[in-house]
Amino acid sequence: MNRRDILQGLSLSMLSRKLLSNEPLLAQTAKTKPKPIAANDRINVGVIGPGSRGREVMRQMLRIPGVEMAAVCDVYEPRFAEVNELVGKKVMSYKDYRELLERKDLDVILIATPPIFHSEYTIAALEKGKPVYGEKTLGFTVQDCNDVVAAVKRTGQIFQIGHQLRYASWIQQSIKRVRQGDIGVPTHVYAYWHRADDWRRPVNDPKLEHLFNWRLYNETSGGLLEELGSHAIDIANWVFGETPETIMGSTSIAVYHDGRTVGDNVQAVIGYSKGRRMFFSSITDNAMMADQIWIYGTEGSAQITLQDATFYRPTQKTVTASSHTDIVERGVKTGASYKTSWEMPYRGPGERVQFPSGDDPTLTACQAFFQSVRDKHQPVASAEVGFGSAIACVVGKQAMTEGRTITVPQLPKS
Ligand SMILES: NC(=O)c1ccc[n+]([C@@H]2O[C@H](COP(=O)([O-])OP(=O)(O)OC[C@H]3O[C@@H](n4cnc5c(N)ncnc54)[C@H](O)[C@@H]3O)[C@@H](O)[C@H]2O)c1
Repeated sequence: MNRRDILQGLSLSMLSRKLLSNEPLLAQTAKTKPKPIAANDRINVGVIGPGSRGREVMRQMLRIPGVEMAAVCDVYEPRFAEVNELVGKKVMSYKDYRELLERKDLDVILIATPPIFHSEYTIAALEKGKPVYGEKTLGFTVQDCNDVVAAVKRTGQIFQIGHQLRYASWIQQSIKRVRQGDIGVPTHVYAYWHRADDWRRPVNDPKLEHLFNWRLYNETSGGLLEELGSHAIDIANWVFGETPETIMGSTSIAVYHDGRTVGDNVQAVIGYSKGRRMFFSSITDNAMMADQIWIYGTEGSAQITLQDATFYRPTQKTVTASSHTDIVERGVKTGASYKTSWEMPYRGPGERVQFPSGDDPTLTACQAFFQSVRDKHQPVASAEVGFGSAIACVVGKQAMTEGRTITVPQLPKS
């Protein structure tokens, strides 16, 4: 099934104009030189896909002096009133992203549609000479991911991927310390995103099911790995300083037998060089563990959450060399390396990372984006960074479907 087929039967088939059109989009758009933006200039933002995430990013952007919401595009008309309410004035609206991109006065574009459209819309905006803040993930296919990176290089435009955790001060500090050896050699990243939430949005008109619940269908979603795991994979990539080499995984529907085709749980094992590993788990019927990332090193561990980070350094390792003798516990010979107290989870104190501000990472990510646009340098959360997580999610989905380990394609050498 291709992307065009997905939309057949949907009354909101504007969901993909590209897929209904054979026009070579890039050919229509002459390369336009970016307009220089001075430090005090107003920045006009055009938004494509102001849904739940799009409006949150808009909310944060609006906190930044000089930022104006100048145009908005969505295939679902009721969004426009929601946008007007958020912005506090009427924003020019479009149902076709190409019309929005014709606007000469737009300085940057925010793209927050479902991921199947990210590459097409991003490339079109870049080709129009517009810097892009693109929500994750970078692309929905391997080709998409390659194409966006190539378009950023070709156009020389600024592109920032929506991995806002790259801009969270406590995470920046933690990864810096980890990379400097603070927990020895980091060898494993274990990430959890557990929720008690069926992920289903209420829909009062069946024709809107795929538009509202695109996350639940394989045709339009990379499932929990892509939607939730991509942030954690990005952090593992940051820790290990590379893109994953391999991925294998498992997914099933264990709880919500409601017509969805993506799994309601995912377990993925991601391989990095030198035998280093990442594990990602997501379940949706029990929020224990919640959203947290553990970085394990040879001398300690770091726990990262959405609000803080803590380093742990147990002074004693569970099993010492001298323990490799038979242990007698409560009169029973238990084995050469086993003693109940040694196997208990560490419950000692941790060292909480101190960080200066409680700013929302989305706000700091947006501030950094506008700074990059003004200074004309690619941001930290660059297209290459977006590639590293997106590509693992794309082939991870395939690995889980086919039940095998897949080698993750690397960025083509330019
Ligand atoms: N960075 C983060 O922390 C974060 C958090 C949530 C979501 N996201 C990402 O943001 C994106 C959007 O997620 P969401 O939860 O806001 O989804 P959503 O369904 O709430 O919003 C998507 C919006 O895009 C519109 N849309 C759909 N097809 C379109 C098209 N062809 N042209 C124009 N508009 C179109 C929809 O009508 C909707 O308003 C996804 O890529 C998701 O992965 C990122």
